[in-house]
Amino acid sequence: VFAAVTLAPRDPILGLNEQFNADTRADKVNLGVGVYTDAQGKLPLLASVQAAEARLAASPAPRGYLPIDGFAAYVAAAQKQVFGTQSAALAARRVASLQALGGTGALKVGADFLHRLNPKATVWISDPSWENHRALFSNAGFEVQTYAYYDAQGQGIAFNALLADLGRAKAGDVVVLHACCHNPTGYDLTQEQWQAVIALLQARDLVPFMDMAYQGFGQGLDADAYAVRALDAAGMSFVVASSFSKSFSLYGERVGSLHVVSQDAEEASRVLSQIKVTARTTYSNPPTHGAKVVATVLGDDALRAQWEQELAGMRDRIAQMRAGLREALEAAGVRQNLDFITRQQGMFSYSGLSAAQMQRLRTEFGVYGVDSGRLCVAALNSGNLPRVAAAVAAVLQS
Ligand code: LMR
Repeated sequence: VFAAVTLAPRDPILGLNEQFNADTRADKVNLGVGVYTDAQGKLPLLASVQAAEARLAASPAPRGYLPIDGFAAYVAAAQKQVFGTQSAALAARRVASLQALGGTGALKVGADFLHRLNPKATVWISDPSWENHRALFSNAGFEVQTYAYYDAQGQGIAFNALLADLGRAKAGDVVVLHACCHNPTGYDLTQEQWQAVIALLQARDLVPFMDMAYQGFGQGLDADAYAVRALDAAGMSFVVASSFSKSFSLYGERVGSLHVVSQDAEEASRVLSQIKVTARTTYSNPPTHGAKVVATVLGDDALRAQWEQELAGMRDRIAQMRAGLREALEAAGVRQNLDFITRQQGMFSYSGLSAAQMQRLRTEFGVYGVDSGRLCVAALNSGNLPRVAAAVAAVLQS
């Protein structure tokens, strides 16, 4: 039966973990997957999360099924976090939302829903984009095209080319946009650029699909939601895939949410009925623990304040590591302009290294990054930074 099955290639990001785990060198460094580790190189268990878990454990609850759309207090808290307190869409009950299995789960439910609605639409993703975007939207049945994004020479965004490419999209096409901390480049649009993109999306009747997996890792929780809130203020219909997996360091709990902003409350209730069908036929209903933890933290002023501080701590430490990497590379004699390392935002630095150079980093130095040249600077610390800088300098210089 399975004789015709071909071997799928390793996942370009998660596959690196498998290779990294098999590497026996003691000083190997994993800068592949987008996971934050602390100054000691450990995956943090946030104090706010521990406090919420202790509270939940103090009154143990049985584990029945959650509703198809998830834990209501979690979904409401996620809506507020994404759209803010001034949201016109939330006030008008125009947002159909459900708890999703991480940001990826939200993208998948959203993609399947949109494909049922308009199978002829093309999905536009940035060039480059998160490795999984193309596969996820193609597997949902869409034709996927790219719009210009990265300007290698200018070390930034090819904004005019981006507008020109989106100007070729047809009405109803879906445009996947990274709300903040663009993955993999780390280059984000300015507020003025977002306004220009939104005007174009509106004029051409395109459907924005915002991927917001890193809210809080760029400038801050509200600043990072600028684009989502600007779409809301513009009165557009759009989709948001959001994730707390990273901001709560709850990766394995898959704490995400999907939001479909509709034109009115009645339309939103029809949309909700349809995304629930997608969820029901994909995984039935979501798991309880992570959603309860996040809802407990976000629903309590003191715990929320503690979490915001812990998130700011992660954000600040990443900025320090960016500065440290840049200084160490300059000190190692790397001549090229390196200020892009500190201009980029979020967990990643898009180094400009070629796939061959990234492979050299792995094989010669045990430094693991994605072949696209993406390095997870959120996994740097004062212990591994000198090694990483020396390895990158060596690869750049020979
Ligand atoms: C990443 O880009 O490394 C993360 O989003 C993890 C993943 O699922 O790929």
